[in-house]
Amino acid sequence: MELSAKIIKIAVDGYSSCGKSTLARQLAQKLGYIYIDSGAMYRAVTLFALQNNHIGQEFFNKKGLIDNLNKIAIHFEHDNNFNPVTFLNNHNVENEIRQISVSSFVSEVSAVAEVRERMVSLQRKLSENNGVVMDGRDIGTVVFPNAELKLFITADIDIRAKRRFDELIMQNNDIDYETVKQNLVQRDNYDKSRETSPLRQAKDAILIDNSNLTKTEQLSIALKLAKKVINEN
Ligand code: DC
Repeated sequence: MELSAKIIKIAVDGYSSCGKSTLARQLAQKLGYIYIDSGAMYRAVTLFALQNNHIGQEFFNKKGLIDNLNKIAIHFEHDNNFNPVTFLNNHNVENEIRQISVSSFVSEVSAVAEVRERMVSLQRKLSENNGVVMDGRDIGTVVFPNAELKLFITADIDIRAKRRFDELIMQNNDIDYETVKQNLVQRDNYDKSRETSPLRQAKDAILIDNSNLTKTEQLSIALKLAKKVINEN
């Protein structure tokens, strides 16, 4: 089936490590759309905050971070396999931003209203005039409230923790399962309860629980939904 020229915005929101980015990336590839990993942007800001001592184990100098937000430039490139690579001030930080050291502070950093304002504006700018699949926590509620298709992804916490643990172990991280699970639980709670743009399912989002779905099955469900919307517009 030839896809119509109509281009849409697809929002993929949900809990931490529930396979949002895999789905969003595959969906974008199938549709010939761009994929934007909004979580990578918050992770890059967190790395900047850590590198510049705005945040640490016992402190968070929010003002210091806010005053320096204009020194943060984030952009994306692709590797040879067409996987997105995140750049912070022209340095490839793709691996660094996935480390647990960044994961431990990212919820606090992403709860800062000024950080969100800046990231949302960049997310909209990167999406201008493009068919886009963007994954995150507030894409369907804040970034693209008028997105033509909104998906909300979830999965059982133990399944999510196991998937994330396996991923980190594959990358040679020395970490235990409980630490990974606790980080997910904490981030979910923080993301749900923060004041600015809390994680919640948009009223018009379609819920997909992928606990018992393979990546292929999940993609096929999402692709069907996307094609339906694209063809009826
Ligand atoms: O998708 P991720 O786990 O890489 O995202 C990292 C963190 O960034 C997550 O704990 C919450 C935050 N985030 C957010 O607040 N809003 C988004 N749109 C995306 C991520």
